[in-house]
Amino acid sequence: MKAAICPGSFDPITNGHLDIIERASHLFDKVVVGVFVNTVKTPLFSLEERVNFIKLAVKDNLKVSNVEVESFDSLLVDFAEKHGACAIIKGLRAVSDFEHEFQMAQFNQKLDPDVETIFMMASSQYAYLSSSAVKEIAKFGGCVKGLVPSDAEEGLRKFFKDRRRGCN
Ligand code: PNS
Repeated sequence: MKAAICPGSFDPITNGHLDIIERASHLFDKVVVGVFVNTVKTPLFSLEERVNFIKLAVKDNLKVSNVEVESFDSLLVDFAEKHGACAIIKGLRAVSDFEHEFQMAQFNQKLDPDVETIFMMASSQYAYLSSSAVKEIAKFGGCVKGLVPSDAEEGLRKFFKDRRRGCN
């Protein structure tokens, strides 16, 4: 069985992430979405919320049964080994993603040469999308409909509710 890991902070998951997860699920027998417990960054959403948004989005939006969601607070390659995964799947948007992703891929290759990093190009409709931009838009009352799955949209709305301008 070929398994792959889709790792990230997912604060929150976007429709761009979901697109990569779905496309990866067509290529592997099992895809584990790994939500990193990042002690350096302070996320907007708790780990539980981030995991829950992804689980709901996978259940409601993807017609696949081979995607699991789990948090991890270890090296990514160790999380991959725990799941018997042979690949780490990363989405690439613009050239600006490349340098950082290339560096992480090289570290991971050094840490475990048996786990291959595979880059998937973002679909064009999501090429501009990022969790940070979505949070900023929501913070200032902009509409994030269509950018994030509905439960994450609701979560953002609740978090920033006092300043909400709303969608047309
Ligand atoms: O969504 P992000 O914040 O870009 O995801 C980054 C993530 C979680 C993929 C990266 O920080 C990671 O793999 N962390 C696990 C710790 C690790 O293995 N670090 C060494 C490789 S750089």
